[in-house]
Amino acid sequence: MRIAVVGGTGQVGAAVVARLKRDGHEAVVVARSTGVDVLTGEGLDEALAGADAVIDVTSTPSMDPTETAEFFGASTGNQIAAEQRAGVGHHVLLSIVGIDRAQSNPHYVGKRRQEEVALAGDVPVTILRATQFHNFPAMAAGWTRRNGASTLAPLVIQPVDIGDVADELVAIATAPPQPGRREIAGPEVHDLLDLARRTFAARGESVTVTPSWKAMSTDMAGDVLLPGPDARIATTTFDEWLAGEAGHQQGPAVYRAVAPDPIDPGVTVGHVHLRTADIDRIRGFYVDLLGFNVVMEARDVPGWGTKGDILFVSAGGYHHHIGFNTWKSAGGPPQPDGVTGLHHIALRYPTRAGLADALRRLRSVDWPIRQATDHGTHEAIYISDPDGNDVELMCDRPFDQWPHDDQGHLTGAIDAELDLDALAELR
Ligand SMILES: NC(=O)c1ccc[n+]([C@@H]2O[C@H](COP(=O)([O-])OP(=O)(O)OC[C@H]3O[C@@H](n4cnc5c(N)ncnc54)[C@H](OP(=O)(O)O)[C@@H]3O)[C@@H](O)[C@H]2O)c1
Repeated sequence: MRIAVVGGTGQVGAAVVARLKRDGHEAVVVARSTGVDVLTGEGLDEALAGADAVIDVTSTPSMDPTETAEFFGASTGNQIAAEQRAGVGHHVLLSIVGIDRAQSNPHYVGKRRQEEVALAGDVPVTILRATQFHNFPAMAAGWTRRNGASTLAPLVIQPVDIGDVADELVAIATAPPQPGRREIAGPEVHDLLDLARRTFAARGESVTVTPSWKAMSTDMAGDVLLPGPDARIATTTFDEWLAGEAGHQQGPAVYRAVAPDPIDPGVTVGHVHLRTADIDRIRGFYVDLLGFNVVMEARDVPGWGTKGDILFVSAGGYHHHIGFNTWKSAGGPPQPDGVTGLHHIALRYPTRAGLADALRRLRSVDWPIRQATDHGTHEAIYISDPDGNDVELMCDRPFDQWPHDDQGHLTGAIDAELDLDALAELR
């Protein structure tokens, strides 16, 4: 089946996509990072073309009830409308146990709106309400974490594994539609503070967690977050999840974790400024060999209490991607080992053909290539520029081709050798 996973790059979404692929289905990853914005509807018609079902596992970090209602209302309305146009036969939506009972939780305001809008459309809808995930206690403690201390409301929860939730979403979406609401929960009831403390301990983080109702409303107290008698009880326990979590702390880092107080998602790294020994030499490399455009170039300009040369280069129309100056470095040697500072800059080529072109340029002058690696997430060629700065020329793989396990953790070929001869052939 062809199934669109809306929010397919998120923590639940990545687990759903991994399972769909494992089972031989075609998973379409829908997220802003894959060019689709469900809030505006941009790219949605193209993404849903030919889809048999849609699994909605989007989320918003907002803690404002008006914003969450707007996000989930608009994103769901846009999905249902696009599904009707595309003839999608089933909309599967992940919601949360207890959202009707804990009325004042701002996220739940949005989730109620999401369910309401989905059910008002003409597409058959199955809602799976899950209890809190195993990583929820530490995540919630992160909302108030300051200087090694954090507060949490003393909630009673029955946490469920994200992998078990993903299994259930896939089972629902790949079966003939049986519209309605279902619940899924983990096998054990726990105390929220205890789970947060145990998670921090397993991660080797020193955080004092004390009970408080300041950051959560009292309508979440008691049995409010526990599932009803008909809920499916998944098997993975908190201890089993925690054991895996501790293992992941020692292996490659978790590639996606939401910060306790996330930065504006629109922020990107703009440009780097490098000290160069010689403007003409550096120009020869970045402009004449790699092909960057010169945006600005000047000699003997005042700066930093002295005079020096500057060169700003850019790919395309940006004001500059890399700036060079000689104010403090004219004629200077490369940065020695044993000092802190820049490790390398990465130049991101939008296509493999672009990276192949860069490789041919390097080979045309026998520029030394230190390493060529297929990281799974991206292919990379490592070189040094004439000032001895390390430079990575790289091309990203689409997110859905990243090697990750069913929990979304990076796995697999993260340092395989890149076949440069094959790459050089690509036009
Ligand atoms: N945490 C819990 O304990 C718990 C328990 C039960 C249910 N849930 C529910 O589980 C769902 C999934 O949560 P999660 O933690 O997996 O979320 P997440 O990791 O924050 O992922 C959110 C996903 O939504 C996408 N997204 C956000 N805005 C978008 C937009 N405008 N257009 C397209 N895609 C957009 C994101 O991708 P881009 O950023 O690339 O756009 C990302 O793929 C949520 O609805 C939550 O209510 C959570």
